[in-house]
Amino acid sequence: MTRTTPLTIADLTATRSVHSPAPGGEWWRDAVIYQVYPRSFADGNGDGIGDLPGVTARLDHLKQLGVDAVWLSPFYRSPQKDAGYDVADYRDIDPLFGTLADFDEMLAGAHERGLKVIVDLVPNHSSDQHVWFQEALAAAPGSAARERYMFRDGRGPAGDEPPNNWQSIFGGPAWTRLAPREDDGELGPQWYLHLFDSTQPDLNWENPEVRAEFEDVLRFWLDRGVDGFRVDVAHGMVKADGLPDWDGKAAMVEGTVADDGSTGAGNSGPMFDQEGVHDIYRAWHQVLAEYDGDRALVAEAWVEPLSRLARYVRSDEMHQAFNFSFLTTPWDAATMRTVVDVSLQTMESVGAPTTWVLSNHDVVRHASRFGLQEIGGRQLNGIGADDPQPDAALGLRRARAATLLMLALPGSAYVYQGEELGLPDHTALPDDVRQDPSFFRTGGAEPGRDGCRVPLPWVGGAPGNGFGPSEKTWLPQPDAYADLAADRQYGVAGSTYELYRTALELRRAEKLGTSTLAWVDALSADADVVAFQVAGVTVVANLGTTPLALPADAQVLVASGELTDGALPGDTTVWLRA
Ligand code: GLC
Ligand code: CA
Repeated sequence: MTRTTPLTIADLTATRSVHSPAPGGEWWRDAVIYQVYPRSFADGNGDGIGDLPGVTARLDHLKQLGVDAVWLSPFYRSPQKDAGYDVADYRDIDPLFGTLADFDEMLAGAHERGLKVIVDLVPNHSSDQHVWFQEALAAAPGSAARERYMFRDGRGPAGDEPPNNWQSIFGGPAWTRLAPREDDGELGPQWYLHLFDSTQPDLNWENPEVRAEFEDVLRFWLDRGVDGFRVDVAHGMVKADGLPDWDGKAAMVEGTVADDGSTGAGNSGPMFDQEGVHDIYRAWHQVLAEYDGDRALVAEAWVEPLSRLARYVRSDEMHQAFNFSFLTTPWDAATMRTVVDVSLQTMESVGAPTTWVLSNHDVVRHASRFGLQEIGGRQLNGIGADDPQPDAALGLRRARAATLLMLALPGSAYVYQGEELGLPDHTALPDDVRQDPSFFRTGGAEPGRDGCRVPLPWVGGAPGNGFGPSEKTWLPQPDAYADLAADRQYGVAGSTYELYRTALELRRAEKLGTSTLAWVDALSADADVVAFQVAGVTVVANLGTTPLALPADAQVLVASGELTDGALPGDTTVWLRA
């Protein structure tokens, strides 16, 4: 059903109150958290790779934008086989990014500005260069050193078949066999499990030594003053007993619509979402509780449906979980309403805030995704030069509308660096500059995630668009980045940066993050419109193409695009005072 008569104020004010956020005054319940991807945020020394001094130098950008917190992707010592998600030393900074002193300076600078800081913890696997894995390689099968990882004998009479049929999320088998040695038994060299790249061996979370080590790592960073952790692959650490075969294909980002209308990754195999992971988070909850200041744990768990995700944020476990069901929602009003509704309801049931996220370093940026008309913005795993290219104007228009809808929702929202500039992916990167292991492990079938990881443009038209003091950028920037550079948007009415700033200011002033959401009755079954009230703000998003006449007496607070003759055009969101 699509509405044809003009809306009145009475239409907009008749609402059904459904969702009240769980009580609690902790900062993370309604925080807007900005994701910094260190290698691409800002380069301090001119080597073309972003670093911690670069982040420190740009903290004012974040303060001005109006976010509450920063989450930094890994900056730990790492051979960078998976852009730092392969950690060789959990207690040190990679020289590429700086030193522990640079970290402390960045943290102090953020705290001086009232910004909280969350760091990334990667507990499912380490780098193969981690001292533990090197010890395990040197040690004999069955030794204590091997017990820290997932070593197994192979199958078949000569042990030359992998221990089970699991596939790596980056493509290819999830097992790699060691080189032959003299002390190999009858079955020959052992195999080790890696859900990701072969340089990322999975740790054995049944081993108390592994658990103790990570609790100590938590304390190391908590003592330094961090406000929380984003926990990588939080659904993967414990594997089903006996590591049974599984014919499914584990994926990071899938995008299926479940029975309850929620969308997300269909990760139900024996390597994911096992009951045992929850014990780990209960223990970590206790560690964080020893510290002051409401330190928080955020789960990166690609599980569905949302009721499974809610189990990660029960009151004695983590504090937040990324809502990938929202991220994977196609540009469709009915699905959007359902996902928002189910998300709020499910998280309320465990007393946790809902989170909202549209982009991150693993998916195609929403400004590009929403520009792919034919598949409704569902393409997540990278766009290659030979793929159909997104319509940039359509993508940006929808991205702005989606963001304005998101920033009104109660709970906590995540913003990925550069989305406040309306950046698209680089969707035509030449293969020879690609670095994502998923590109190589799938033989190029998946373009991979490099397109969303391109260095940010700070100064339009400057060398490297001002990414750093040299012209170098570790990935080439697309031509469009010059006009979208931060300096071309500061103070410019209608720019994406100013749209974000205005929305964030209103969100804070109106306390949208901690208020009740009520659906606007008159539009609650409309084919194209998503409309709700939060605190004193009425949000109307038009996901269709037919303009929607707004009441003449409603006051426009902010809009993602220009209104035409008092009507809300397609692919546009408005915040009203009705
Ligand atoms: C997470 C990260 C991703 C990484 C993977 C392996 O999904 O977000 O970037 O490749 O884990 O650590
Ligand atoms: Ca650098």
